[in-house]
Amino acid sequence: MDAYETVRTKLDVREFAKKKVPASVKSQILEAARLTQSGNNTQHWRFILVQDPANLKTLAKDSKWGKWVENADFAIIVLTDPQFGYHLIDAGRVVQDMELTAWGSGVASCVFTGLDEEAYRRDFNIQKNLTPSIVVGFGYPAKKLLGKKNRKPLSELAFLERYGSKFSPDKLS
Ligand SMILES: Cc1cc2nc3c(=O)[nH]c(=O)nc-3n(C[C@H](O)[C@H](O)[C@H](O)COP(=O)(O)O)c2cc1C
Repeated sequence: MDAYETVRTKLDVREFAKKKVPASVKSQILEAARLTQSGNNTQHWRFILVQDPANLKTLAKDSKWGKWVENADFAIIVLTDPQFGYHLIDAGRVVQDMELTAWGSGVASCVFTGLDEEAYRRDFNIQKNLTPSIVVGFGYPAKKLLGKKNRKPLSELAFLERYGSKFSPDKLS
């Protein structure tokens, strides 16, 4: 699958099959994280891979909007360093690279925020200088995916040269 096709087809999935994701795929997802760009190449992030079902349960319990992660095959907690103003941009880029890499191997995922920070610090031994910014849950999808995305049209989202000047493909040079 080429890069555009991966983006075009990727859907967020919160219901996972019992089938195990191979260790080689998990390693490749972490490699994709390691290879991602970060502001000034600081690489301030750290990743905690959670695969023990008891710990996945804790991840779910300590979150507001990630209860579904209890049934994921594994999850990755992304920690970033808030001393860098761009740390959340870096978090967004790294989760996208991990999710697209997973999708290329047929592994679905979704992210969640709304983390109980204190509980995460306690339960996953997260040090003061790092913030648990976002979590990604991974697994094979439980159901056949319909492949339908609900997205606004480009005519509403994109502009040419200045905000308000409507974009249309025939205006491209
Ligand atoms: C920054 C960000 C935060 C998100 N937070 C949550 C969340 O807390 N819980 C959740 O279940 N989904 C979360 N999502 C998933 C979005 O709701 C999902 O991407 C959106 O519904 C589109 O999904 P689709 O690609 O399947 O159409 C988040 C997505 C992003 C990009």
